[in-house]
Amino acid sequence: MSDFNKIILIGFMGTGKSSVAEALAEALQLPNLDVDKEIVASDGRVIPDIFVQEGEDGFRTIESNVLKQLLELPNPAIIATGGGAVLKAVNRELMLASGLVIQLSASADVIISRVSNDRGRPLLQGDVAERVHTLLEARANAYDFAHLTIDTSDQSISQIVNEIANAWHKSQSR
Ligand code: S3P
Repeated sequence: MSDFNKIILIGFMGTGKSSVAEALAEALQLPNLDVDKEIVASDGRVIPDIFVQEGEDGFRTIESNVLKQLLELPNPAIIATGGGAVLKAVNRELMLASGLVIQLSASADVIISRVSNDRGRPLLQGDVAERVHTLLEARANAYDFAHLTIDTSDQSISQIVNEIANAWHKSQSR
């Protein structure tokens, strides 16, 4: 069983999860754990190679295992997830049981401008704008199980960090 002591960032690619996690970890003096980075460190392959060699399903299985390991660590931490980690119900349930789940969102245009020219995201290869629109539609509401949603399109990182830190302190004092 996990303790409810994590701050878990979810959201579509390009919504700012990694940047916000870094600043939040600094502000709250907590470790910053990134599921994608842990996958690469433990598997030894970069994400595009895992997609090519194992397919998306194979990647999702590895992702679930790594997410579970991080959520079950005993100490408080910030955990930034990949955009597709919400697709499995078992992942969603474990996230909700393990801490405060924060959805970062952004408009399609902002997402496209943040992720264009990106070679590291296998699901966005080809026509990036078309891929983003298609996936956003396929994942409509997929992130809505979060305790709190923050639109990162027009806010500074420090505003976003403050909002999450306030929600975190409130959840801890209950
Ligand atoms: C994915 C998002 C990526 C990474 C992989 C798949 C997705 O993470 O896990 O390319 O399915 O949305 P980021 O959201 O950090 O880009």
